[in-house]
This record gives sequence, structure tokens and C-alpha cells, in this order.
Amino acid sequence: MPTDRASATGPSYLAQPHEVHRCVLLYSGGLDTSVLLKWIQDEYDAEVIALCIDLGQPEDDFEAIRQKALDLGAVRSLVVDAREEFARDYVAPSIRANARYQGGYPPFTALGRPLLARLACDVALEHDADTIGHGCTGKGNDQVRIDATVATVAPGLRVIAPIREWQMGRDEEIAYAEEHGIPVSSTRARPYSIDDNLWGRSSEGGTIEDLDAPPPEDVFQLVTPPTRAPDEPTEMTIGFREGLPVSLDGRDLGLVELIARVAEVAAANGVGIVDHIEDRVVGLKVRDIYEVPAAEVILTAHRELEKLVCTGRENHAKPELDRLWAQLVYEGLWYEPLLADLNAFMTAVNARVEGQIGVRLYKGSATVVRRSSPNAIYDRSLATFDADASFSQSSSPGFIELFSLPSRMAYRIADERRRA
Ligand code: ARG
Repeated sequence: MPTDRASATGPSYLAQPHEVHRCVLLYSGGLDTSVLLKWIQDEYDAEVIALCIDLGQPEDDFEAIRQKALDLGAVRSLVVDAREEFARDYVAPSIRANARYQGGYPPFTALGRPLLARLACDVALEHDADTIGHGCTGKGNDQVRIDATVATVAPGLRVIAPIREWQMGRDEEIAYAEEHGIPVSSTRARPYSIDDNLWGRSSEGGTIEDLDAPPPEDVFQLVTPPTRAPDEPTEMTIGFREGLPVSLDGRDLGLVELIARVAEVAAANGVGIVDHIEDRVVGLKVRDIYEVPAAEVILTAHRELEKLVCTGRENHAKPELDRLWAQLVYEGLWYEPLLADLNAFMTAVNARVEGQIGVRLYKGSATVVRRSSPNAIYDRSLATFDADASFSQSSSPGFIELFSLPSRMAYRIADERRRA
């Protein structure tokens, strides 16, 4: 472990400038990472391998991004389609864990970053690079997730995150870009900081920072504002097996495609807008506007089915562990053994989570209206209000007598002391 480096030169995993010879840059094609691509070549006198990873972010033209990196001097430019791995190994466990950080944000950036970082390490080792470069600032969560992943899975590699150190504001960045022939036209107009993948889209910054105002309309690029959504509801039926969605309206689909289809219909119905105040790992409190149409529907349906097949005790205990799961992932602790322990629990509980959930989508809401499961712990003849039920009602008073015993004793004793 290179930890003894830490005391002498700062954190063990950070590269000193002279240590950078060939850098794998996590490249999105946007302004920040394009400026970085040039900056690393010039300031570190290093080769750059640009790596752009497809996690299902809509709208990206990956061939254009790949070419742009080469135009900016990358010695290699790679595009990796990681959608299947992302859905299977990252989104799927988050569904089993009903993951929503602080009750609102279904982690998607937080799920994507450890995968991006690990893939960058794979590429670096394969191409004899010594350093991973990324475009995170020093104020966010993403730096934590990426740095922690690299330092964990590839302790022989180093990290650089020049945006954390350079003092350029946005205008200076644009000036630098113009000076170095980096196209900025399409990025300049964007007033928000965006991140997206197949599980959702986030917007931060700009007028979103005014907490006292409703989300600006121009934020929404994915979800139709509910007021403009259709006047008729739409219903969809999601089939689950082992806690994962496997079919839509009776048709079997792979997870990537299923998520895309659910997202499209939900977004058209105004479903999946989350206006969220959250606490970042580094201590800041911020507001995010999320567009998470697929997550909204799938998590709602999953939780409903889980409730149906689990016992009451499981239903009381699991949300506590779900919350912990979301927090660990949000905090970038993807390799924390506790997360693996929790995953074993989530998988065990979800072995029984099989069935069909019907969801009605209407002007921003996703409401469960039908549910069925071969594993439902539900017996209509026991639950019914009809007279001939087999549930033994005469047993209830004896149960209540014992069930209420400690509370009754405590009440009586307090009462006696008050009177004494
Ligand atoms: N607040 C979310 C998170 O921490 C979204 C962050 C989006 N990242 C970004 N660089 N715009 O996961």
C-alpha cells in the first residue's frame, strides 16, 4: 500500500506533475474535459488517451466525441459501450435496494462514477498509462467517487484532477478554449451543470441555486412538465423476477431496453421530476433538479411488490438497510465491504420478489393500481371483511392482553407515582 507516501507529498494517490507521462482522461466531449485534454498535454507534457464511456446518456454522438478528442491531440480516443454492465451490476442492485439518497435522489451519477473510474483503470493498465485524469471540481461528490475507486482498484496508478487546482472561472475557460481552437459554441449556451445516463439526468447551478423559486422551465429536457402532459392516463404493467424488472406489458425485455421504454412513456406523462435539497459528502448543502422517469416508475413498482411478498418484519427492517445502501453509494464507497454485505441481504430478500405491478401514469404521478405475485403473503379469505373468514377472531383479545402488557404496566406505574 502506498500510504506512507501520504505524509511526505500529500494524498498517496495524487500524481506529482513530473510523474505524469501517459494519462487516461475520462472524456465527455464537453467544454471542461476538452479544455483538460489540451491542458494536460501542455502543462504536464504528457500523452493523453481520451476515454468516453456510454452509460446510456441520450443525445450524445459518440463518433463525433471520439473524433473531437483526436482533433485536440489525444494519442488515442476510445468509446466504450458500458450500458449492459452499468444496468446489470450497478442499476440492478440499486433497484433491489430501492435506492434513493435522502429519500429523493435515485443515485445514477453516483452509480456511474465507480464504473467510469474502474473502466479508466482497465484502459490505463492495458495501455501502459500511469495516470487517470478527470474533470471533477473540488466541491462535488464525483471527485470522491472517482478518486476512491482508482485508489482502491488500481493503487499503482495516480490521479490528476486539474480543475480542482486551476483558478480558471468559466469565462477564462472559454477564453482558453478559444485560444486553443477548442469548439465551445454548443456548450456556452448551457446555463446548468448536467450529468446523465440511462437511469436519470441531473441539473445543478445557475438559477436552480435560488431555493426560493420553482425550478426554471428550461431545465427540463427529458420530462414533459406535468401541466403539459396528456389529459388521459396511461397504464403499464411491469413484470419482476428476483427483484428486477424483466417484462413490460407482457413482453420480455433486457434491462437496458426496458429502462429506456419505461423512461419514454413516463417522461411523456410528466413523471419523474424531483426537486431535491441534498447534503454532499464534502459538507455542502445543494439543490438538484432530477429527471428520473424510469427510476420513479420502476422503484415505485418494485417497492410495492416487495411489500407484498415480504413479512411485516422484513418490511420494517429493509428500508433502514435500503437507506444505508443509498448513503454508501452516494458517498462513493462502492468497494466498502458493508455494501457487499448489504447486497447479499438485498439479493436474499429479492429472491421472492416476483410478479406483476400495474402503474398508472398521469400528469406527473405514478400510482400503483394493480399487483399480483405467486409469492404474495396475502390470503383473501383471511383478509376479507366477509363473515365466513377462517381467521380466528376469538383469538384476538388474548393476543391484545399480552401484546399491550408492558405498555399497560408502564402507564399504571407512572400513574400511581403521579398520584402518590
Ligand atoms: N448530486 C448528484 C450526485 O451527487 C448529481 C451530480 C451530478 N454531477 C455533475 N458533475 N453534474 O450524484
